[in-house]
Amino acid sequence: MMKILVTGGAGFIGCNFVRRALRVKKDWKIIVADALTYAGNLENLEGLKEKYNDRYDFIKIDIRDKESVDELFKKEKFDGVIHFAAESHVDRSILGPLAFVETNVLGSVNLLEASRKYFKSDKSRFLHISTDEVYGALGDEGFFTEETKIVPSSPYSASKASSDLFVLAYHKTYGLNVVITRCCNNYGPYQFPEKLIPFMIKRALDGEPLPVYGDGRNVRDWIFVDDHNDGTILAFEKGRAGEVYNLGARCEKRNIDLVKLLIEKLKACLKDKKDFKEPEIAFVKDRPGHDFRYAIDPSKAESELGFKPKISFEEGIDLTVKWYIENEGWWRRIISGEYLEYVEKQYGGK
Ligand code: NAD
Ligand code: TYD
Repeated sequence: MMKILVTGGAGFIGCNFVRRALRVKKDWKIIVADALTYAGNLENLEGLKEKYNDRYDFIKIDIRDKESVDELFKKEKFDGVIHFAAESHVDRSILGPLAFVETNVLGSVNLLEASRKYFKSDKSRFLHISTDEVYGALGDEGFFTEETKIVPSSPYSASKASSDLFVLAYHKTYGLNVVITRCCNNYGPYQFPEKLIPFMIKRALDGEPLPVYGDGRNVRDWIFVDDHNDGTILAFEKGRAGEVYNLGARCEKRNIDLVKLLIEKLKACLKDKKDFKEPEIAFVKDRPGHDFRYAIDPSKAESELGFKPKISFEEGIDLTVKWYIENEGWWRRIISGEYLEYVEKQYGGK
């Protein structure tokens, strides 16, 4: 049995990863470590202990707390770490950058230090989950490759870029067996309703206007979360030590087109519901430093790892819209006082 630590496993990508990995990697024991911040939710991992028993455990731990991290690593002697835990929302990083430095930079370095000291063997691997946002913004043309210069725009992407550099430094300096993946925008079940797709679905279902930043012409490159997670497993198992792999599904959309598509999908799903009204789109003040376009060139992951996304955008969006309609209880339960305060701060009365 391989003992794998998954940090941030109670968040959006992490919980989908844990479910998938427990299903397909039968020789893995997964220990999830998560601080359960506003974005982490134990409900996302419900049923796993009953189903997988000895192959799954959860521990509440804050990666900013060096002593607790050291203690955990000393005790468990991991065969690998898959590091998802992070403060992940760009708009929140603009409102308050420090939490991003503490978790994404200091927290990641705490994990690297513990890995260096207490990993089971030289073969134990540290997979760092990063983002294409470290590359900054593209214009109308071109793609991000692994060689693209790192020029992050937001406090979020600056903190992720900084952690990437520490991960690479631990490989060069201490020989730690590291791999980094940089993925494009994910969507799918269990995404916290502050990110574009679930936020717009929630607002539409609540009859609220859909706030599109600027003129809505910014472009994001989208991947269904399970495809990202298949790439994560491949990178963990097949990636070369010290290397970076870009993950993406070659699926660029302008924000305004995506929001219009979501409205159409919701209308189709809710056509029998008389109280559903078509939501209005509200163009609101642009995000400061708003990156114009992201677009991943995933050739290296395709050729070296055999990475190949399976879910088309049409299929993934249908599945996601249906999931949010059918799981209204899930997102209503996480919309707490803190969420309402954040939305008020970010969007005002809009
Ligand atoms: P998320 O915000 O949904 O989840 C983050 C998880 O980390 C939560 O469970 C939270 O409780 C936990 N966490 C936060 N601070 C912590 C701390 N100090 N100690 C321990 N746990 C802590 O984020 P996500 O969208 O699932 O993103 C996961 C990872 O993937 C992040 O590293 C993010 O940068 C990266 N990523 C995300 C996307 C995307 O589109 N969402 C794209 C590329 C890369
Ligand atoms: P987001 O989901 O926050 O992801 P990221 O900023 O990490 O790419 O936003 C995706 C895109 O949608 C981005 O260009 C900003 C835009 N956006 C809006 O127009 N309105 C919103 O309310 C949100 C949350 C995002």
